[in-house]
Amino acid sequence: MLLHEDVKKFEYTKINFIKYVNTYNRSRNISRLKGISKVKLTNRLLKIASLVSENKRLADIGTDHGYIPVYLLNEGIIDFAILADINKGPLENARSEVKKNKLEDKVNLRLGSGIEVLKKGEVDEVIIAGMGGILIGELLESNKEVAHSVDKLILQPMQAQEELRYYLLNNGYEILDECLEKEDFRLYEIIVAKYTGKNSPEEEEIYYEIGKKLIENKDELLTEFIANKIKKYNNIIEKLGNKESEAVIAKRKLANDRIERIKKLI
Ligand SMILES: C[S@@+](CC[C@H](N)C(=O)[O-])C[C@H]1O[C@@H](n2cnc3c(N)ncnc32)[C@H](O)[C@@H]1O
Repeated sequence: MLLHEDVKKFEYTKINFIKYVNTYNRSRNISRLKGISKVKLTNRLLKIASLVSENKRLADIGTDHGYIPVYLLNEGIIDFAILADINKGPLENARSEVKKNKLEDKVNLRLGSGIEVLKKGEVDEVIIAGMGGILIGELLESNKEVAHSVDKLILQPMQAQEELRYYLLNNGYEILDECLEKEDFRLYEIIVAKYTGKNSPEEEEIYYEIGKKLIENKDELLTEFIANKIKKYNNIIEKLGNKESEAVIAKRKLANDRIERIKKLI
């Protein structure tokens, strides 16, 4: 059990502290940290929160419960946040979380789609987490003025990660960083990006599927991530069975080529 006294022993900055807690609680729920934050953050949410810079104005798009901004405000890491959601129910969840934590004077709650609820210059950093990669790309497209002007986009696609990387790198965004987080046996990909106006398409398809930054950073979950990918392609091959039609042969070759390429990444 991690006690408040134990934590005090470490002279970490707040962000490093989050990273420290994250390591020790990889597969557990952060709610055990009673007294440090009143809000429960799971590993995924905590990792996303750790990527927000100190003292920046934040927007959390598709905020639902509002846990991330409420946590960051409680910790004093940020002073202002816009919590937005397209649906009334989730926005009301966020409103009660804000009220419970007495943070009404530090937040704006907005009902609407994506970053359409934001004006240029209102926030420095934007989180879009827990949605599909294609939708995230569409939300960035829907208000380019804002998407292009913020310092940092923290994106956590639940699926279509490959499509999101493709969209970013071929539409003037730079991927500044990437990391993986594990929660309840699932690996989540988190992408940090910024608009630069310069396209930087990958020279090889494989890097849309397995982010280059994950390899460069030697992410501690990379081996497991890669093993999962290989398993996925082996399952495809298995399902194709012994059929020998032209289409099946092509699919089998594609899957085998991917496996060979993935194996060479690390
Ligand atoms: C699965 S929840 C994710 C909540 C939180 N961001 C997280 O990562 O745990 C997705 C949330 O996004 C909201 N949402 C879906 N489409 C949206 C859009 N176009 N604009 C804003 N919010 C949206 C949903 O209402 C829901 O609250």
